[in-house]
Amino acid sequence: MSHVGFIDTTYQPNYNKEIVVTFYMEPAIAFNEAAEAVAGESSIGSWTDLSTLKPDVAKKIGAKVFYFNEKQNIVKIAYPLELFELGSIPQFLSSVGGNIFSMKAIKNLRLVDVEFPEKYIKSFQGPALGIEGIRKILKNKDRIILGSIIKPKVGLSAIEHAQVAYDVWKNGIDLVKDDENLTSMVFNKFEERIKRTLAMRDKVEKETGKIKIYAANVTAPPDIMLERAKYVKSLGGRCVMVDIVSTGLDNVQYLRKQNLGLIIHGHRAGHSTFTRYPKHGITMLVLAKLARLAGIDQLHTGTVVGKMEGSEQEVLSINELLREDWQHYHILRENWSALKPTMPIASGGLHPALLPKLEEILGHDIIANFGGGVHGHKDGSAAGARACAQAAEAIFEKKSLKEQAKFHPELKTALDQWGGVKYKQQR
Ligand code: 3PG
Ligand code: 3PG
Ligand code: MG
Repeated sequence: MSHVGFIDTTYQPNYNKEIVVTFYMEPAIAFNEAAEAVAGESSIGSWTDLSTLKPDVAKKIGAKVFYFNEKQNIVKIAYPLELFELGSIPQFLSSVGGNIFSMKAIKNLRLVDVEFPEKYIKSFQGPALGIEGIRKILKNKDRIILGSIIKPKVGLSAIEHAQVAYDVWKNGIDLVKDDENLTSMVFNKFEERIKRTLAMRDKVEKETGKIKIYAANVTAPPDIMLERAKYVKSLGGRCVMVDIVSTGLDNVQYLRKQNLGLIIHGHRAGHSTFTRYPKHGITMLVLAKLARLAGIDQLHTGTVVGKMEGSEQEVLSINELLREDWQHYHILRENWSALKPTMPIASGGLHPALLPKLEEILGHDIIANFGGGVHGHKDGSAAGARACAQAAEAIFEKKSLKEQAKFHPELKTALDQWGGVKYKQQR
């Protein structure tokens, strides 16, 4: 263990010049020794004193444990900004998300929250369009944006995919998206799907006079991802989707840097490999902050009422961080105003009967995505889309769904079909 001294509980962090990280830690050795090992390994230390480490350098850029609470397993560490390369998520993760998670000194370690100084936040571009830009494109100021994932996730031909997209756009859905594992398949090639689906978008826009968005999944190795995004752009597309965990946030940032003027939709498939276990890993809140830095305009963050894990308190904190409408988020020491806000997306297990509760908990500034909740409707995708639009209209007009269903048969069928389907709600 290094004796540089990484603990100073009298120290007051400087939130303008330091990145402040909160860890949950279960030690395998004495708590203070493990905390010191974490601060050292993630900044400038090693397992022993180093002849090459000058005391003045150690003093200046060594991380400091300024708070620890053994009972609550909390460790707070301040990292001088000099330890980080501005504008680099990989370098950040190699430090506070790196070797420390492998150390024998800890049993469990979780990166709970990170507070970034304004200078660090400003070194990233953030979203190109953000909430305001997305709403402006859609000419939708204050309603829930209705999205639909084409289902089955994989299995339709490009022609079938485009037809299903047309059916749901035509019947009230604003945004159609590819599913996370649909990229370029032997039976549904990327270029053909994009060409046909965007042609259907143009047709439906002409017929309805409404703007529609197609989030085309460009998840791929970065050279191919960029080629595909450019292809979407060349055909007049407005949005691309990236699976941010499997593709990597640095690749998201690379895509953002091309300034293509496209909405970047962030799907978080796979985040639970490190966010779900409550004692170890990295929280979804931290991933959401990194996604906003990288330039994600709209991000999947959870539904509370749907099929995916995520408590109300957690989803609310994440959404508030992304939208900057601070009400529940506990820490207001960060200033994100240099970057545009990111639109939260609720997706996974949603159906029309869940929409009022979703809106009650998460508000109207969200995209609500329906996969099975549209394409599983007994009367088909078009009827499913109508049922969602009817539910959204009822919420906007402050009517109950039951009342709305009296005059809207598609909603009535959806309520009969799924009214009883409820997922365990986490507080
Ligand atoms: C690594 O990156 O593998 C570590 O820095 C190893 O460092 P150590 O030999 O000082 O433990
Ligand atoms: C998603 O990618 O968010 C899911 O495909 C949601 O699908 P579902 O609405 O059928 O659960
Ligand atoms: Mg999906």
